[in-house]
Amino acid sequence: MASVTALSDLARRAALHGGEIIREAGSGMAVTAKGLPGDWVTEVDVASERAIRELLHEATPDIPMQGEESGGATGDRYWVVDPLDGTTNFVHGFPAVGVSIALVEDGRPVAGCVHAPFLGDTYVATRGEGAWLERDGESPVRISVSDRTPAHAVVGTGFPFRRKGSLPRYLAAFSVALETFEDLRRPGAACLDLAWVAAGVFDGFFELHLAPWDVAAGGLLIEEAGGVVTDWTGGTNWLDGDILAGPPAVHAELLRIATTTETT
Ligand code: IPD
Ligand code: CA
Ligand code: CA
Repeated sequence: MASVTALSDLARRAALHGGEIIREAGSGMAVTAKGLPGDWVTEVDVASERAIRELLHEATPDIPMQGEESGGATGDRYWVVDPLDGTTNFVHGFPAVGVSIALVEDGRPVAGCVHAPFLGDTYVATRGEGAWLERDGESPVRISVSDRTPAHAVVGTGFPFRRKGSLPRYLAAFSVALETFEDLRRPGAACLDLAWVAAGVFDGFFELHLAPWDVAAGGLLIEEAGGVVTDWTGGTNWLDGDILAGPPAVHAELLRIATTTETT
């Protein structure tokens, strides 16, 4: 059986493969609605996922893959794939677009890659072996979360734009976060938001209602870069999509914010 390190490398190759398809396609694609308002898919999302599935299946036929666009089985051990994270950005020509691939074992990501095809950045992590950034084909460098204080933290977030019913809960947390931290950012591709936390670019991240394919690889990157990742109650169920992440001091503030604003 392949080692987890070899499977991280496979995730990296598959993410770069999907990224090539995205880069070659450019932006300005026609969109098709999927379900919830603002939930779009383009032919490029589908083509990237198909290419990633083929590559992963050829190398690891025994490991099922769950993809955002075509579904698929999960299990004790499975791949989870967002073939194009930030579809709205992609369609609008905003380059915050990612490809996210993780291997989940017993409910925890153990290997993963986040690739930003328009930025030339590739982030790879293996459980217990650290998180790494490869920029424009240069040698990988080990990354770690920032040590900025909460007062000087710039924290990424995402809006619950498809679930307006969650706005009161989210906006209560948002308001206290804006008072607590120096500033907030909303680039619009969750896997990159998380990778930027792992690399110390952002000092934390919070969002509700994400999906496993948005967070699995990025959450592993943060844990392997010395950060803390939990759900909004401080529990371990962040793969379900309600996520708080950051260096320990910023994460502690995010958890305080999430738990004290919940009932307001
Ligand atoms: C979306 C992006 C966005 C987040 C959404 C996600 P998609 O992914 O990650 O930042 O706020 O909730 O669904 O749909 O572009 O793959
Ligand atoms: Ca996504
Ligand atoms: Ca997607």
